[in-house]
Amino acid sequence: MVEPGEVALPVDGDSQLALIRVFDDRAGLAPPILPGSVHDAIGAIIRERQERERLAARGISPTRSAILVGPPGVGKTLSARWIASTLGKPLWVLDLTAVMSSLLGKTGNNLRAALDHAKKHAAVLLLDEIDAIAKRRSDESDIGELKRLVTVMLQEVDQWPDSGLLLAATNHPELVDPALWRRFDLVLKFDSPDASAIAVAIQRFLGDDLALFESWIDVLAAGLQGQSLSDVERSINALRRGHALQTAPLEQLIGSALGQRQEALSKAERLNLAIALAKAGQPHMQISQMTGVARDTIRKHAGPSPRKGRGLK
Ligand SMILES: Nc1ncnc2c1ncn2[C@@H]1O[C@H](COP(=O)(O)OP(=O)(O)O)[C@@H](O)[C@H]1O
Ligand SMILES: [Mg+2]
Repeated sequence: MVEPGEVALPVDGDSQLALIRVFDDRAGLAPPILPGSVHDAIGAIIRERQERERLAARGISPTRSAILVGPPGVGKTLSARWIASTLGKPLWVLDLTAVMSSLLGKTGNNLRAALDHAKKHAAVLLLDEIDAIAKRRSDESDIGELKRLVTVMLQEVDQWPDSGLLLAATNHPELVDPALWRRFDLVLKFDSPDASAIAVAIQRFLGDDLALFESWIDVLAAGLQGQSLSDVERSINALRRGHALQTAPLEQLIGSALGQRQEALSKAERLNLAIALAKAGQPHMQISQMTGVARDTIRKHAGPSPRKGRGLK
């Protein structure tokens, strides 16, 4: 069989937009940071694929389709890449925005062409941002065509062969047609990362600079609570760039990594940040200005303010 990585991919006839993007992570990809339950569910999908023949011998199909649901930036697309790479395949991503932006009258054909192509090559296919279909529904004149499109999708999900794996992802489950929703063998729910996932992610994203920022990890973890891992990665990368180019002293770079995020933290989270900052040796007056936590409260939790401190700002 032709290797999916090497075949010509379908393009929209009018715009020459590639309808399928390819992520080839077969050289290796770090596993996504996920809670145990999601991790196990993904492990089961992979195992069923790997032992497909054993299942087939008993007349059982592996999970053929799954829909990944959750807020943006928590690892849905990354998990699809991880599944494909673990199975030794590239991930094909059907860009529904490209499909939808092609002339609507042809959208159904484009979609079918791309899906047929994926089926023929036993690909792992991700329908990313599947809610893009529903978003078009606002325009009255499109309704007939959209209905046909959803019908195409319903048939395809139903008839997806055991040899391929069909994944879909959405940040807006409420926009996905319930009939389509029901067709997927499995629903995988991704939540916002908890405190320990954020701490693990910070350490991973610091990479070779981990030792350098060792004493700031608790501060960063406390300050980046509530962020998606994609946002955490962006902040850490900015920090590393700033440090590599010495745009400002380390304390100041940390301060600006946390700077814009104070409003997003709850009162308890701000207290945690204040305590972490105090433990990292910051003067209480500045901590108090930054977090809005009273100096008395900081002292109560973390002992007296240091005599000297470099200060975050
Ligand atoms: N669970 C995670 N584990 C590790 N990195 C993550 C995770 N979630 C997000 N990231 C980082 O953020 C980037 C964007 O995440 P992505 O998978 O596209 O999010 P989503 O599809 O849920 O919107 C990833 O490529 C990765 O670098
Ligand atoms: Mg995504």
